Amino acid sequence: MKQILHIISSPRTEVSASRKLGNSVIEKIQEKYPGSIVKERDLTKNLIPLLEEIHINTFFSPAESHSPEQQLINTYSENLISELQESDIIVIDSPMYNFSVPATLRAYFDFTSRAGYTFKYDENGPQGLLNDKKLYIAFTSGNIYSEGPYQVYDSNVPYIKNVFGFYGVKDVSVFRAEGLAIPGIMESSLQKAIESIVID
Ligand SMILES: Cc1cc2nc3c(=O)[nH]c(=O)nc-3n(C[C@H](O)[C@H](O)[C@H](O)COP(=O)(O)O)c2cc1C
Repeated sequence: MKQILHIISSPRTEVSASRKLGNSVIEKIQEKYPGSIVKERDLTKNLIPLLEEIHINTFFSPAESHSPEQQLINTYSENLISELQESDIIVIDSPMYNFSVPATLRAYFDFTSRAGYTFKYDENGPQGLLNDKKLYIAFTSGNIYSEGPYQVYDSNVPYIKNVFGFYGVKDVSVFRAEGLAIPGIMESSLQKAIESIVID
């Protein structure tokens, strides 16, 4: 039995390819670990704000010095981080939107990348604090980035791996449904990606 955190970033619902792929990953994890508990963090609901000065000042100052407004900000960020800390397995649905992750996912990282919580610095440089977790990335895109001429634009998967690697999460599996805008590929890409899911 595992504690699973499912992070969703597509604003689309029924037609969302990344949700379908992410949901399939969750189903396979549940098959492997019956009784697992899934906590959903749908980033398109109750939007995380874009970083403002007060957020940065809160994150970089001791809790004792926080104003009432900063206490609320700090608790909000700590709650997001707790979900990561409490999970054994993290599944992220990430479509490519305009050569990046959706802005909701970027905002999530701005509120979870905090020294003393998800990483720390010591004499050896940065150290991740979320060790022994498994990350699955469910990536979808209109074009193809895992190979071919557009591989240099493969921004999402390396970026998410870098952020989580910084948090100490090094065990990562990636499932890609690519070419969802390319006739001849789009018809079968998602199904092939779903069939490729292996939970290790
Ligand atoms: C606003 C928007 C921007 C997109 N930008 C890109 C892009 O830069 N590169 C790409 O390959 N596909 C792009 N796509 C296609 C999506 O990556 C693809 O449709 C993906 O399946 C969307 O996931 P979703 O259905 O879960 O929202 C874009 C789609 C949308 C709606």
